[in-house]
Amino acid sequence: MNILLVGSGGREHALAWKIKQSPKTDQLYIAPGNAGTAEVGINVPIKSTDFEALKSFVLNHAIHMVVVGPEDPLVQGIYDFFKNDPDLKNIPVIGPSQQGAQMEGSKDFAKAFMMRHKIPTAQYFSVTKANLSDGIAFLKTMQAPYVLKADGLAAGKGVLIIDRLEEAIRELNAMLGGSFGKAGETVVIEEFLSGIECSVFVMTDGTHYKILPEAKDYKRIGEGDTGLNTGGMGAVSPVPFADKAFMEKVEKRIVIPTIEGLKQEGIDYKGFIFLGLIKVKGEPMVIEYNCRMGDPETEVVMLRIQSDFVDLLEGIADENLPEKELLFDDRSAVTVMLVSGGYPGDYGKGKKITGLGQTQNSILFHAGTAGEKGEIVTNGGRVIAVSSYGKTKEEALKQSFENAKIIDFEGKYYRRDIGLDL
Ligand code: AMP
Ligand code: GLY
Repeated sequence: MNILLVGSGGREHALAWKIKQSPKTDQLYIAPGNAGTAEVGINVPIKSTDFEALKSFVLNHAIHMVVVGPEDPLVQGIYDFFKNDPDLKNIPVIGPSQQGAQMEGSKDFAKAFMMRHKIPTAQYFSVTKANLSDGIAFLKTMQAPYVLKADGLAAGKGVLIIDRLEEAIRELNAMLGGSFGKAGETVVIEEFLSGIECSVFVMTDGTHYKILPEAKDYKRIGEGDTGLNTGGMGAVSPVPFADKAFMEKVEKRIVIPTIEGLKQEGIDYKGFIFLGLIKVKGEPMVIEYNCRMGDPETEVVMLRIQSDFVDLLEGIADENLPEKELLFDDRSAVTVMLVSGGYPGDYGKGKKITGLGQTQNSILFHAGTAGEKGEIVTNGGRVIAVSSYGKTKEEALKQSFENAKIIDFEGKYYRRDIGLDL
């Protein structure tokens, strides 16, 4: 089978690494990919949202399946573009329809969906300029800290957590006034939930589902979970507090009603559902849905899937997921993200990366890199995800931290406390 994978980050390198291992894979192409994906497949210089260019490529290269990594093409309707095109309609796209992608693309849509299906989540109120006074009245009924979320996609920066009411009201006005652009035309005000977070991934063929290994992500730039939010600085799987009892609650109260709800509402969804969860007094609640796999969670989840991943993807496409095998690797997997100095603020690019060939016993997933063997340079905020196995997470972390020292580039930074809170 010829597969086209769309995207260019660490998540896509990890997906490419796993897809390449399948005996079912003939050619693997990545659009646009990075220096790491070029080692497992063929990069094609097409932007993930250039649907017309992707169409020509798919038709000219006898592609049998398209796997979509990031949210942007999904929210912009890549699934529907294929489905509605007579030449493309028989080529499966792994990822939800545009309507399904609203679970991530609109926080207001996701909250309303959870309310309709009684899925546990924080109380909320959606505000636009038209009902601002009601929004402020709702804010006043909440206790500090106050949670404000831009409704639309905001590259992980759309959530504000504010201690003082006056400041929250000021920010609410600013958001509705355009500080987040179109994404902030609607703002979701939420009850603040206190607890520990983890990510659970579900693959669905629209009717059936399988739950993939869970992971914990480290979102803040600074050690001890301080400083600005990033795309994710590292991840571990399994997550000790996501024990059997917790995961059973997640399945019964969240996964099943989500899949049933999508089906009942006629929302076409064949792909991944990322549940951003928080454990509040032992009970799972949903912080957010994403319509794709997580990054850097994928860099550990792929390590923990033993089964043929392409076979599972076919199960999504052919709507026969229950016939597919999903076996987990019992070992721990961790990833430590090496990032550019200055990230998540401004940072430089084009810094030469050294030491990539000198590491041992880790799998290096490239995130923001460019170039070819021998001369690989930084090309983004998150640069390399150093992923390792271990009998315990401590063993895996030791391996990743050792290799994190060997790889170098000007301004390199990483958190040395990934996994240490668990
Ligand atoms: P989101 O983009 O919705 O995942 O939010 C980003 C981060 O903000 C989450 O990972 C949480 O740490 C935090 N957050 C979001 N919503 C809430 C909430 N209702 N209560 C507490 N923290 C939240
Ligand atoms: N690591 C969080 C995300 O992928 O959104």
